[in-house]
Amino acid sequence: MPPRHDRPVALITGAGKRVGAVIARTLHAAGYSVVLHCRRSRDEAAALAAELERACAGSSLVLQADLADLQAPTMLVDATLAHFGRLDALVNNASAFFPTPVGTVTVEQWNELFASNAQAPFFLAQAATPALRAAQGAIVNLVDIYAERALANHPLYCMAKAALAAMTRALALDLAPDVRVNGVAPGAVLWPSDGKPYDDQQAMLARTPMQRAGSPEDVAGAVLWLLRDAPYVTGQILNVDGGRTLAV
Ligand SMILES: NC(=O)c1ccc[n+]([C@@H]2O[C@H](COP(=O)([O-])OP(=O)(O)OC[C@H]3O[C@@H](n4cnc5c(N)ncnc54)[C@H](OP(=O)(O)O)[C@@H]3O)[C@@H](O)[C@H]2O)c1
Repeated sequence: MPPRHDRPVALITGAGKRVGAVIARTLHAAGYSVVLHCRRSRDEAAALAAELERACAGSSLVLQADLADLQAPTMLVDATLAHFGRLDALVNNASAFFPTPVGTVTVEQWNELFASNAQAPFFLAQAATPALRAAQGAIVNLVDIYAERALANHPLYCMAKAALAAMTRALALDLAPDVRVNGVAPGAVLWPSDGKPYDDQQAMLARTPMQRAGSPEDVAGAVLWLLRDAPYVTGQILNVDGGRTLAV
């Protein structure tokens, strides 16, 4: 085991781009060293790591893995500890998201949606628990407001995020008082590249009291707050949705 690194260390899954990359930048700016997990976005993750290294040498590590690989969670935690000697925060951000209309669903789709949204987050948390206990650390899971509501034609995604929400509460109970476990449930933040047509996006925003989509920074700020500034908060899922879940 290398000497214990002087900055707290956060492992963020799916950190190569989009919301995960902004979470990594935000935690890094707040003084964390970051482990940038990626699968296909290796080049983006390497570019982000280079940017962070210019600000603080030795403060980042890129690890590549498909979270459907059953060995991936243990590998990611072991590689983090081998490099930095500590782990203070786990952010389960990586997520598959695609429609699965009833009547068309395959077991492969089930496995893909559950692997990144539920299975890997649990086994990452399990592998990380001894180090997180030693650090009195915390976990934040990126859930979704659709863990509790139905999203048309996305039953498996909703079910997988519901499992992640249940895991947030179950592990908060089981890992207290050493490790806090919370979730952030974004509303509309970044549309998937093959996502909703413009008119549907505008209709969704019209139903959002804050009258805008959230930014990745809105989500990242909530993650940082739950990790660093909320020592008496555990088992909670914070909606960062511009008030969208207030309306029926
Ligand atoms: N964007 C939104 O408006 C919104 C709304 C509600 C909830 N959320 C939640 O917030 C989080 C971030 O959202 P996002 O839109 O930024 O996510 P995203 O772009 O859809 O996905 C993030 C990353 O997940 C990784 N990933 C997917 N399957 C994987 C697998 N099997 N193994 C390893 N990595 C895998 C991908 O990494 P690679 O590119 O490296 O392959 C991808 O870049 C997600 O958990 C999402 O469900 C987002």
